Amino acid sequence: MSEPRLKCIICNKEYDPEEIVYNCKSCGGLLEVTMDPPDVSWDRFANRPFGVWRYRELIPIKEGTEIVSLDEGGTPLYRCDRLARWAGVRRLFIKYEGRNPTGSFKDRGMTVGVTKARSLGSRAVACASTGNTSASLAAYAARAGITCYVILPSGKVAMGKLAQALMHGAKVISVKGNFDQALKLVMDVSRSMGIYLLNSINPWRLEGQKTLAFELVEQLGHVPELVSVPMGNCGNISAIWKGFKELSGAGMISEKPRMYGVQAAGAAPVVEMLRKNLESITPIKSPETIATAIRIGNPVNWPKAVEAIRGSGGIYDSVTDEEIVETQKAIAYLEGIGVEPASAASVAGVRKAVRACLIHPDAEVVCVCTGHLLKDPEEVITVCGKPVEIPPDLKAVSDLISPEPLPQTCFG
Ligand code: F0G
Repeated sequence: MSEPRLKCIICNKEYDPEEIVYNCKSCGGLLEVTMDPPDVSWDRFANRPFGVWRYRELIPIKEGTEIVSLDEGGTPLYRCDRLARWAGVRRLFIKYEGRNPTGSFKDRGMTVGVTKARSLGSRAVACASTGNTSASLAAYAARAGITCYVILPSGKVAMGKLAQALMHGAKVISVKGNFDQALKLVMDVSRSMGIYLLNSINPWRLEGQKTLAFELVEQLGHVPELVSVPMGNCGNISAIWKGFKELSGAGMISEKPRMYGVQAAGAAPVVEMLRKNLESITPIKSPETIATAIRIGNPVNWPKAVEAIRGSGGIYDSVTDEEIVETQKAIAYLEGIGVEPASAASVAGVRKAVRACLIHPDAEVVCVCTGHLLKDPEEVITVCGKPVEIPPDLKAVSDLISPEPLPQTCFG
C-alpha cells in the first residue's frame, strides 16, 4: 500500500496522516484521505469474510495496526420485486445497513475511525449525534477500551439509539439545541481538550464507509445504474461515491453509478442549493422532520456530497414526512425489511423520481437503507398506533380475528 496522505479538497494542501487535523489549516476546507491506486484485483479478496476488512488493501490503515472490529459490513443486498412495482422501477435492491453490529452503517466508519484513534494513542473519543453515530461510537470505544463522550440534541434522539449509547458506557450529554449546535460544541471541546473527534468531518471514518460501494459491486456482479442515499451530515453519500471512484481508479470497474441524494423536506439545504444552482448552502436554522437521524440544517460535508451528485451526473430531491412514513410502511409490509424513517427516504426518493421522469421505469436501482427499524420504536407507535387491548376471553379475541387476508390498502 502506498503511504496515505490527508489532503484538502479545496487547496490540495497535504497533511501527515499521523497529524490530528479535521479542516485545512490554510483555507478551512474539508480533508480527505488519498493514496495511489493500489495494485489489486477482485480475486485477492475472494477467500476472505464478507465485510469491511475484506478490502484491507483499499483501507489506508498501516499494516500491523491492531484493528478494532465487531464484524461490521457484509450486509445483505435484498432484491425487492414487490417494492420495485410499488416504486415503479424494473429492479430495486435494498442494501440493508440495519444488519450492522449496532444497527446502522455508522459501524463501517467506526471500525476504521476508532482503530485510527487508538493507533494515534487517543485516550478519549467524542461525537455529536442525531443518535446512530453515538450508538456506534459508544460500542466501538467500549470494544477498544477508550473513553467516549457524546453530545446529543435534547429530546430529538430516538430511544433505541440513546439506549445503546448509555449501555455501552458513553458519557451522554444532552444539549438544549439541535444537532448543528451540538456539533459545533463538540468540535470546539475536542480541539480544546485534545479529545479525538469522530463525526464524519473526520475523513478516516469515510474510509470505512466507502466499503459499501465495494460490496455492492461484488453482490450485484456489476456496477448499479443508480445508488440512492439519504443525506444528513452528508458523509455517507460522499464516502460511497469515493469508493466507486477508487474502484474506477484502480481499474476494478469500468463505469460508475449515478448518485441520488435524498433529504427530508424540512432539512434539505443541499437539495435547495442544487435546485437553485447555487455554489454554497444556506443553512436551515430550525430543521424539522420525523426522520430525526437526518434532522440537520448545516451539514458539514455538503461540498463532498455536491461533488458526488454533480460528479456522477446524479440527481437530488427532498421527500416529505408523509412520503417517508408511507415508504417505511411499504418496505416493512411488502418486503419484511424493517428500517428507520431516514432509511426510507432513499426508497421514497426513488418512487418520486420515477414519477417525475428522473429515473427510467426500466432502471435498476439500489437504495441504501441506513438503519434498523428498532432504532426508533416510538415513531412506530406514533405512525402505526398502539395494539388493540382486550379482556382475556375467547369471544373478544375471535371478534377481532377474520379468516380473510388483511386488506392491502395503499400497497395494492
Ligand atoms: N440514515 C441514518 C439512519 C443516519 O443515522 C444518518 C446520519 C443518515 C442516514 C445520514 O448520513 O450524515 O452521512 O449523510 N446520522 C448521523 C448521526 C448524523 O449522528 O447518527 P450522513
